[in-house]
Amino acid sequence: MKMMEAPSFLLTMLTIVVSITTTTTSQSPIQNFLNCFSHNSQASNFVASEVIYTPNNTSFSAILNVRILNKIFKATTTPKPLAIITAKDVSHVQATIKCAKSNNIQIRIRSGGHDYEGLSYLSDVPFIVLDMFHLNSVDVNLQESTTWVESGATLGKIYYTIGNKNNSFAFPSGVCFTVGAGGHFSGGGYGNLMRKFGLSIDNIIDAKIVDVNGNILDRKSMGEDLFWAIRGGGGASFGVILSWKLKLVQVTPHVTVFNVKRNADEGATDVIYKWQLVAPKLHKDLFIRVKPIVVKIGQGGKKVVQVSFIGQFLGTIERLLPLMNESFPELGLKKSDCMSMPWVNSTLFWWNKPIGTPLETLLDEPKESEAINFKAQSDYVKKPISKKNIESIWKMMIDGETLHMEWNPYGGRMEEILSSETPFPHRAGNLFLIEYYNTWIEESPEVIKRNVNFSRSFYKFMTPYVSNSPRETFLNYRDGDIGANHPSNVTNISISRIYGSKYFKGNFERLMSVKTKVDPDNFFRYEQSIPTRSSKSHM
Ligand SMILES: Cc1cc2nc3c(=O)[nH]c(=O)nc-3n(C[C@H](O)[C@H](O)[C@H](O)COP(=O)(O)OP(=O)(O)OC[C@H]3O[C@@H](n4cnc5c(N)ncnc54)[C@H](O)[C@@H]3O)c2cc1C
Ligand SMILES: *[C@@H]1O[C@H](CO)[C@@H](O)[C@H](O)[C@H]1NC(C)=O
Ligand SMILES: *[C@@H]1O[C@H](CO)[C@@H](O)[C@H](O)[C@H]1NC(C)=O
Ligand SMILES: *[C@@H]1O[C@H](CO)[C@@H](O)[C@H](O)[C@H]1NC(C)=O
Ligand SMILES: *[C@@H]1O[C@H](CO)[C@@H](O)[C@H](O)[C@H]1NC(C)=O
Ligand SMILES: *[C@@H]1O[C@H](CO)[C@@H](O)[C@H](O)[C@H]1NC(C)=O
Ligand SMILES: *[C@@H]1O[C@H](CO)[C@@H](O)[C@H](O)[C@H]1NC(C)=O
Ligand SMILES: *[C@@H]1O[C@H](CO)[C@@H](O)[C@H](O)[C@H]1NC(C)=O
Ligand SMILES: *[C@@H]1O[C@H](CO)[C@@H](O)[C@H](O)[C@H]1NC(C)=O
Repeated sequence: MKMMEAPSFLLTMLTIVVSITTTTTSQSPIQNFLNCFSHNSQASNFVASEVIYTPNNTSFSAILNVRILNKIFKATTTPKPLAIITAKDVSHVQATIKCAKSNNIQIRIRSGGHDYEGLSYLSDVPFIVLDMFHLNSVDVNLQESTTWVESGATLGKIYYTIGNKNNSFAFPSGVCFTVGAGGHFSGGGYGNLMRKFGLSIDNIIDAKIVDVNGNILDRKSMGEDLFWAIRGGGGASFGVILSWKLKLVQVTPHVTVFNVKRNADEGATDVIYKWQLVAPKLHKDLFIRVKPIVVKIGQGGKKVVQVSFIGQFLGTIERLLPLMNESFPELGLKKSDCMSMPWVNSTLFWWNKPIGTPLETLLDEPKESEAINFKAQSDYVKKPISKKNIESIWKMMIDGETLHMEWNPYGGRMEEILSSETPFPHRAGNLFLIEYYNTWIEESPEVIKRNVNFSRSFYKFMTPYVSNSPRETFLNYRDGDIGANHPSNVTNISISRIYGSKYFKGNFERLMSVKTKVDPDNFFRYEQSIPTRSSKSHM
């Protein structure tokens, strides 16, 4: 597979400077779009200056940048949208679709802006960002144990609102609480409740979406094919997701968490080797993530790999300790390592917040200063990696210094769900999911290039230890290196099949069928979208 030759928009974005020339006549597509948009937005609550941002507006950059998590894409050389629509009402979503379609302008849909490759807010064809952050309500119904959440709601707001109602309820999804529901749920959504309850999409029972014709559909009116596709196939190929209905899960009023660290020179390699054998087979109530990272120790600042074993148990410390002693004594977990707290408090623990951090922190709006430079990728592991090979992985990590990994155990509920049940195919047969995460401070193009190159070398180095044919990739950990179509061109299906088979395996064919049915003219397209079967291009 010619992966390295596939177009990589990550690096090309750094060098391409696109100048978008709009004519000075009122006939320019963007002016026509804006006129059309104002006409089609419902008058009752429409204040143009609160919804439409063009590069002429002083707050344009602030609105664009505050939801760009990956700082690489804040560069002035990154192509900017012609306009940003910050929808406050469903009519703004409908008008954006209608007017973008009639003026042949592409849209990018953004909720939390955490996309690893920035595909919710960049492109090198002219485009408009439809920003969903205002549409962020979270509506809990304890009688039904369900919750409707709008796409712009963050995971933090969802956790806070559920936790405040009743400690016994939770929802399985990710750890970073500024992630948006729109992208997170349409890409799968996993977290530390995965072994007990599966992914977010395994617990989503309804959704509302605006389709290419501006119709608002729910599960019943969209039909089971489209409802299947948006739960793991990515939303932006099919329409604009307005909201999701979550089925809450029940947890113990207190959960137990721990974070035990071992350095590689203190036997961490033996413990992590054993972890591979036991973590996917442990009791479903127990989830232990391992996180190897390079640290400097002693006077000389010698670099070693330190492994954190970060765990969560849906039960008491008293029940956990004998369980660990029986199934994973190598870790040597002690009572003093463990803390008991309500599930909602544990979401702050998982995001490294000190104990005692107020729960309201979960409601924090994103800040521009929180953006980070990073390149991240993913892999699935099906066979244990030998101790010798683990040692060689440590050596490679120490060479790079800034890359760390997270290994997330599979098993439990993840084994029970068929690969075809949702578009997310990575189910039984996996021991764990790896995330590679390289992050650095300096912003010069040279430093970015060096770090991205290191990430790619590391990914290549891992080839013998991970899944192959295809080498599977997690959609929510989007990777531009596995192929991308230039959106100005007719979709090249052979490129789509490269990323399609990695993200979706056999489900890619069904995703293409759904796409062809619901959006035959391929309006909802982007660099890694699902193509239509006839690969029409009427843009
Ligand atoms: C620090 C960090 C931690 C993370 N932790 C986890 C984790 O624990 N578990 C996990 O599963 N993932 C995790 N992720 C990945 C995250 O789930 C994905 O990046 C997700 O796509 C982000 O959603 P978003 O709405 O914030 O992103 P955006 O960048 O806004 O969108 C991502 C994609 O979804 C599309 N999209 C967004 N909103 C809509 C909508 N309303 N309708 C249709 N399409 C839409 C966008 O067009 C884009 O293609 C993490 C990411 C980061 C940066
Ligand atoms: C943004 O710019 C448009 C067009 O130049 C103008 O009509 C509008 O009033 C501006 N809005 C704000 C908030 O400055
Ligand atoms: C931005 O301002 C320029 C000049 O002030 C004007 O020609 C152009 O139409 C404006 N663009 C938009 C999108 O309003
Ligand atoms: C919370 O929900 C649990 C489980 O349904 C129930 O037993 C408990 O009484 C509820 N607690 C409160 C305070 O409502
Ligand atoms: C762990 O198990 C062993 C026997 O398997 C037992 O001797 C020991 O007391 C147990 N330790 C704890 C802390 O439970
Ligand atoms: C959980 O958070 C609440 C609210 O901040 C706090 O009062 C409580 O002490 C926390 N509990 C634990 C065990 O951390
Ligand atoms: C890329 O990284 C690898 C491994 O660190 C290194 O051998 C190679 O020289 C680097 N290439 C460039 C162009 O920096
Ligand atoms: C689009 O496709 C044409 C024909 O295949 C090709 O010449 C052109 O370079 C492509 N454009 C981009 C931007 O990839
Ligand atoms: C489609 O992409 C493949 C793989 O990059 C390439 O070999 C082929 O020429 C492309 N086809 C067209 C029609 O551009």
